[in-house]
Amino acid sequence: MGRVLFLLLWVLPQVWGSSEVLGRSFLFRCLQITSFANSSWWRTDGLAWLGELQTHRWSNASDKIDSVKPWAQGTFSSQLQSVFRGYRSSFTRDVQEFAKMLSLEYPIELQLSAGCEVHPGNISENFVYAAYEGKYILSFQGSAWEPAPHAPHLVESVVKVLNQDRGTSEILQGLLRDTCPQLVNGILEKGKSELEKQVKPEAWLSRGPSPGPGRLLLVCHVSGFYPQPVWVMWMRGEQEQQGTQRGDFLPNGDETWYLQATLDVAAGEAAGLACRVKHSSLGGQDLVLYWDGSHNSVGLTILLTCLALLFMLILGLTLWMRRHR
Ligand SMILES: *[C@@H]1O[C@H](CO)[C@@H](O)[C@H](O)[C@H]1NC(C)=O
Ligand SMILES: *[C@@H]1O[C@H](CO)[C@@H](O)[C@H](O)[C@H]1NC(C)=O
Ligand SMILES: *[C@@H]1O[C@H](CO)[C@@H](O)[C@H](O)[C@H]1NC(C)=O
Repeated sequence: MGRVLFLLLWVLPQVWGSSEVLGRSFLFRCLQITSFANSSWWRTDGLAWLGELQTHRWSNASDKIDSVKPWAQGTFSSQLQSVFRGYRSSFTRDVQEFAKMLSLEYPIELQLSAGCEVHPGNISENFVYAAYEGKYILSFQGSAWEPAPHAPHLVESVVKVLNQDRGTSEILQGLLRDTCPQLVNGILEKGKSELEKQVKPEAWLSRGPSPGPGRLLLVCHVSGFYPQPVWVMWMRGEQEQQGTQRGDFLPNGDETWYLQATLDVAAGEAAGLACRVKHSSLGGQDLVLYWDGSHNSVGLTILLTCLALLFMLILGLTLWMRRHR
């Protein structure tokens, strides 16, 4: 199935970086999305992240993997670039052959996630997962492909065919075991300062939509921090409030994070509560915000802001008209 280009892998230059640069583990993830509208129309696009930062992208229209960060530039050597070009076209051909063999219906949507996690001490783990129509169907484990638990029967025949190709399997093992950690070490060395940056969170409180009569929803917003690990809790004195609900981490546009923590309390019990935030950037100086009852709901805040803006606009217009009369 035309995988000869993979052989180029063996001429890769052996450049080793130091996995000790930052003294912590880093996950490198590549995502591939391939969509077939029919047997003759398809596209494959890719993205790569090191930890929380996107480092590369690969558009179907492009012949090469582009770095998103200046410090990730040149990390995919030209040989590695051509290995991936070869991979992209043989992947397309393989899917078309499988579609014929198994009489699959178009459109077909495939997603792959592959990469490695590099730990201090030059230890690494790696993974390859594939999904079909948004469902996890198979993975590469050690030296062979395996169907996912509860995968449809068809997947077994795909796995059988894939596992007959020992050559490709060995090359994939090399890519995962050697090339991936090598790549990560190279990026870590060049991107050290940005990867170890610390950005302090800001925090503020507001009142959420009322959960019921006589109850209040206290919302603690924490935003603009990096890296992601953060601790946010509603407290009464030194006592953690177990009812604290954490939302999902949401990305801000500037590669920092946003998180909110809410607490549903009886209206009379809100006084004395505080939101406490711990983050590596704060150097042990936790942020503590006290609930003082004056926090308006978001809707009211927006309304008041709009009224204030309208007032200023009218004032401005009046002054302008006076001056021009
Ligand atoms: C394949 O899909 C593309 C995009 O939807 C469409 O423009 C094209 O006409 C289709 N070709 C065939 C042979 O159905
Ligand atoms: C994606 O790239 C391949 C190879 O360059 C090309 O043949 C195909 O037409 C492209 N698909 C789209 C939708 O542009
Ligand atoms: C790191 O591990 C790789 C194999 O995973 C090995 O080839 C390389 O020599 C090791 N580098 C160092 C500095 O120990």
